[in-house]
Amino acid sequence: MSVFITFEGCEGCGKSTQSRLLKEYLEKSGQPFFYAREPGGTEISEKIRSIILDKDNGLMVDECEALLYAAARCQLIKEKILPSLDRGEIVILDRYIHSSFAYQAYARGLGYDFVASVNKFALDNCMPTVTVFMDVPPETAFARKGGIDGADRIELAGLEFHRKVYEGYLALKEKFPDTFVSFKADGNKYQTHEKIVEYLKQNNYIK
Ligand code: TYD
Repeated sequence: MSVFITFEGCEGCGKSTQSRLLKEYLEKSGQPFFYAREPGGTEISEKIRSIILDKDNGLMVDECEALLYAAARCQLIKEKILPSLDRGEIVILDRYIHSSFAYQAYARGLGYDFVASVNKFALDNCMPTVTVFMDVPPETAFARKGGIDGADRIELAGLEFHRKVYEGYLALKEKFPDTFVSFKADGNKYQTHEKIVEYLKQNNYIK
């Protein structure tokens, strides 16, 4: 069985840390995997990423943004994810389609159907086996990292936007009850990591 695990959540929620800890766990336990962050993971997708996140691209319309995320994703799926799943590897992604639902569909207001239809071309039915949602509200996450630093175009969108992103994720939890699992991530990062590993083991997604 091929296993495809995605990590999701608001900025600064700890999903990058947790996805990296899981990657290290798989490395140590000798389980073959492919790991990437989105947007990115291929040379072309990284180039698209720099266009999307460029602070000078303030004129970018929401539809263009959604299409660019889908384009970066399409390249990643065809070039890396599908071959890796075919080889029987575990795929771990830091962000995937649910980010487009939370950010572009809910927070930007493009709507679920628009984002789903754009991504239909990119996805080729390649949906995650399980999505690990780090449930940390944006107020807590930004306070943790010392406020919004405006590192890129999306971060600059402000707290109200990120509040909508969070609400979007909560709605997605209802929409995908079988594959969406949330972790509060309020304790020590290693304790959270252990809880995630335990969950994934219990479901036979990893060893
Ligand atoms: P990144 O610096 O990787 O943020 P983070 O560390 O929080 O993951 O930048 C990715 C940004 O792109 C982030 O703000 C979320 C956003 N994003 C979307 O809006 N839609 C998407 O489909 C994806 C994959 C990311």
